[in-house]
Amino acid sequence: MSGPERALARIDLGAIERNCQRLRQQLRGGTQLCAVVKADGYGHGAVWAAKAAVDGGAARLAVATAAEAEDLRRHGLAVPILVMGALTADELRLALEADADLVAWRTDFASAVAEHALPGARRPRVHVKLDSGMGRLGTADIEEARAVAEAVAADERLELAGAMTHFATADEPGDEHFPAQLERFMPFARELKERHPELLVHAANSAATLREPAAHFDMVRCGIAVYGLDPFNRDPFEHGLEPALTLESWVAAVKRFRPGDSAGYGRSWRAERETWVATLPIGYGDGWRRGLSNDCDVLIRGRRHPLVGTISMDNVTVELGPETDLEPGDSAVLIGPQGDERILCEEVAQRLDTINYEVVTGLLPRVRRLHSR
Ligand SMILES: Cc1ncc(COP(=O)(O)O)c(C=O)c1O
Repeated sequence: MSGPERALARIDLGAIERNCQRLRQQLRGGTQLCAVVKADGYGHGAVWAAKAAVDGGAARLAVATAAEAEDLRRHGLAVPILVMGALTADELRLALEADADLVAWRTDFASAVAEHALPGARRPRVHVKLDSGMGRLGTADIEEARAVAEAVAADERLELAGAMTHFATADEPGDEHFPAQLERFMPFARELKERHPELLVHAANSAATLREPAAHFDMVRCGIAVYGLDPFNRDPFEHGLEPALTLESWVAAVKRFRPGDSAGYGRSWRAERETWVATLPIGYGDGWRRGLSNDCDVLIRGRRHPLVGTISMDNVTVELGPETDLEPGDSAVLIGPQGDERILCEEVAQRLDTINYEVVTGLLPRVRRLHSR
């Protein structure tokens, strides 16, 4: 354990490993787990997270960009890596150099992949994407998706590796769009699989994986659940997931406040009583968003204390109450457990009217990541 540090994100790699094991236990036999480690492993450190996920049984990895795939390869990750995002010509070259699997939904892109294939290297592996209702990447035209798949299969320079889609509302149990997307994707996937039995059919993100075994197919692409966060933005422990990230700071100063004394820019909070206020050296320059001003709690010595005043770039202030035993040097937890208390990332997200994804991905590089098991 290291001592106090201004802003530190501890990443429990054992939790990532166990989350992958738990996700795998829920999969139908033969379904592979692909761990999504884009955006620096959702803020957890992509290379570390990827290695822990592979140790936990992830057979594959997925990222959004070619540079992310190249980074994983450079750090020794040898499992298949799927680049899910759209690629410029330069990015395509980089993705192929990283021996990544690619996603296509137009024949002209598939041809460009074939033309950029590296001499002597394995044939580029292409996954055809049907937009079954996300309205983003992929073709919404089933005929076009079939044509792309057959063009890839017919091109000796390419390998047809997968058929995929992505869900827009898997995290909203009870909605009608998710089953409709599944209905649209299934016959397309079934037909392609019959013609090309080797290809991987995949669709599910974390929410779909936890909610609908019929969406598992040959592989699931899980991101948020790998990190122990709840895709439904409730409590991850309900699904047996363990949050991997704890965000800490420390008490740098403790001050006595009289009624009317204010803390921080704009004097948005004033003491209503004699009280103590602590300053922690973490702020929006670390990704602790200003929208949490006067609206979140911090754990110190296992107790909740309200953050008061406007969050600055480098500091926040916390009210300790009229009597306090807290001292400079005490550790403070902004996300995670301390003693018998805990603050979930989902709680922070709800206060910010956002999702847990954005909270962890939004932690800035100034917050040191400390990885351990
Ligand atoms: C295409 C695709 N598949 C899978 C995922 C993983 O989603 P989640 O983090 O909800 O599991 C993402 C992430 O947004 C994605 O863009």
